[in-house]
Amino acid sequence: MNISSKVVHIGVGTDEKTGAISTPIYQTASFQHPALGESTGFDYTRTHNPTRQVLEDGIAALEGGAAGFAFASGMAAITAVLLLYRSGDHIVTIQDCYGGTYRLLERVFSQFGLEASYVDGSVEQVLQAVTPATRAVFIETPTNPLMNIVDIAAIAKVCRDKSIQLIVDNTFLTPCFQRPLELGADIVVHSGTKYLAGHNDLLCGIVVAKDTELAKKIQFIQNSTGSILGPNDSWLLIRGLKTLAIRMQCHNENAQRIAEWLKGHSRVTAVYYPGLPDHQGKDIHDRQASGYGGMVAFTVDDPDLVPSILERVRLIQFAESLGGVESLITFPARQTHADIPADIRNRLGISDRLLRLSVGIEDVDDIISDLEQAIEG
Ligand SMILES: Cc1ncc(COP(=O)(O)O)c(C=O)c1O
Repeated sequence: MNISSKVVHIGVGTDEKTGAISTPIYQTASFQHPALGESTGFDYTRTHNPTRQVLEDGIAALEGGAAGFAFASGMAAITAVLLLYRSGDHIVTIQDCYGGTYRLLERVFSQFGLEASYVDGSVEQVLQAVTPATRAVFIETPTNPLMNIVDIAAIAKVCRDKSIQLIVDNTFLTPCFQRPLELGADIVVHSGTKYLAGHNDLLCGIVVAKDTELAKKIQFIQNSTGSILGPNDSWLLIRGLKTLAIRMQCHNENAQRIAEWLKGHSRVTAVYYPGLPDHQGKDIHDRQASGYGGMVAFTVDDPDLVPSILERVRLIQFAESLGGVESLITFPARQTHADIPADIRNRLGISDRLLRLSVGIEDVDDIISDLEQAIEG
C-alpha cells in the first residue's frame, strides 16, 4: 500500500467491538484484570494504552520498523534513546544538530559520563571520531537549520562495520519523504510536534526501532522512565498523521517556489534548500529521499534587517517550532540554536543574518507577498 493510503488508514478497523472509524480515546490510567494472573494485554497506561498502541503501530509501519514508541515530546524520545547507553560510552553526532539535542548531550548526559563528539556528517569525519567506546552515531538530514545533507546509507555502512548503532532524527522529512531504516539505520526519532502532528497544537516524540531486540530495550526504558504520550495527545497525533502525505506535498511545493523566489532577491545573500540545483549534497539527497520538505533557511545582506523582517511579517508568524500548517519564521542564532556556543555557531554559518522559515500550506503567493513586504519594508 502506498504511504498516502497508509497514513489515512492508521487505526481504521482496529476497534473490532464497535467498528469505530476514528480511534477511540481510552482515557484511563488502569485496566481491570479478568482474573488473578490474567491481563487483557493492558494493565496500566504507562506500560500500554490502546489509543497509544494504535499510534505506535501506525508509525512503526510508516517507518518500516519492528515497533514504535510515543513520548511526551521529541526531547523525551531522544532522552529515551540515549538511555540505551551508559557511563563511559561515546556518541558521534553532527555539529549542527538541533540545539536541544546538543544541550541534552552537553549539559545532561555528560553528567552521567556519556560523551559526545561533533562532526560534519561526512564518512571521513565520522570514521575519525569513532573510538573503541563509541556506541552510536546520531544524525539529522537535512540538518537544522542549514539543510546540510548526510549520506544515511554510507554512515549506516560505517556503523555496521564498527558494530555500532545509527540513530536518525527524521523530523524534517518524515517517512513520506525519507525512510532511514530502509537505508540501514537502527533507530529513527522524531519531534512529532512538527510535521507528524502538523498543526502547531501538540508536543510529542516518536522512536521507531528496526528490530525486536532494540524495541524491547526501548519499551523497557519507556515504561521505566514514564515520559509517555497521553491518550488524548495520541489521538491528536493519529488525526494529524491522516493528512501527513498531502501536507508534505504542499509544504514541499510551496518551499521550492519560495526558495527560488528568495534566491532571486537582491537582499538575500544565500538560500539553503535541498531542492535548489546548486545545493551541496543534492545528489545524495535525491538518492535517499523523495522530497525536499518545507524548511528553507536564508541569509540577508545586513544583520539590522533581521529584526525588521521578524517584526513586519503578518501572515508568517514569528514563532519557534516548525512543520505545522502555518508558516513560521525564526532566528536560529537567538532561538533554536542559542545553546550552541557563539564561536561554534559562527563557524557553522548560524550567523546573525540567518533566518529559518518553516513554510506552511497557505497559498504560496500569499506567503511570497508577505516575505516581499517584510524584506522590502
Ligand atoms: C530536529 C529536531 N529534533 C528534535 C526536536 C525536539 O522536539 P520537541 O520540541 O518536540 O521536544 C526538535 C525541536 O525543534 C527538532 O527540530
